Amino acid sequence: IIGRIIAVLIGYCFGMILMGYFIGKSKHIDLTKVGSGNVGSTNTMRNLGVPAGLITLLWDCFKCVVACFVVWLTYHRFFDDVSIYMVYAGLGTVLGHDFPCYMHFKGGKGVASTLGFIIALFPMGLPIPAVVFIALVALTRYVSLGSIIGCLSFAIEMLVGAYFGLVPFEGSELVEVLVICCFVSGLAILLHHANIKRLINGNENKFSFHPETRA
Ligand code: G3P
Repeated sequence: IIGRIIAVLIGYCFGMILMGYFIGKSKHIDLTKVGSGNVGSTNTMRNLGVPAGLITLLWDCFKCVVACFVVWLTYHRFFDDVSIYMVYAGLGTVLGHDFPCYMHFKGGKGVASTLGFIIALFPMGLPIPAVVFIALVALTRYVSLGSIIGCLSFAIEMLVGAYFGLVPFEGSELVEVLVICCFVSGLAILLHHANIKRLINGNENKFSFHPETRA
């Protein structure tokens, strides 16, 4: 259990490095106060332009890979199989991104960090959520809708994959992994509650490559 907690903490430290927030700060723009108020790549792109949004997306994904690698480097001397600890590092990264302590625990919505979680830990599971996300955003231009249904599809594919023996864990570790995957996806969906309200009311922001004109 201590090993799992330390892995979560390592992940948390990387996760709370919010690229969009820091790029915004360097340009004297507080992303929590403009656009959707989110510090994720969508709102960064919306307010600071495409390059800043892409850098944010890359880092917010990549930090999970880095955290998992650090846990692998540290743990593989002590354990034969470190996979489960890497999953906990992934969980920590998402928690750090969504609830950074230095921002009063109000961070991102966990979409890019969930994408990083999938890339780092279950790359075979990437195509379905990626296609769902891209198709929905292309059709509707609602990034939030693509994110919500993409995350849902990841949780469902993990459960179905586990049923067919495609998730490379067994016994209690498999249960832990499934709980973590459903938690990570469910959390991203819950953190979209304001977007869900806007989608229902028909006033959600549509994606555009052109930054919003700020007052
Ligand atoms: O990555 C978050 C995205 O799904 C929605 O972002 O800024 O429109 O709330 P935003």
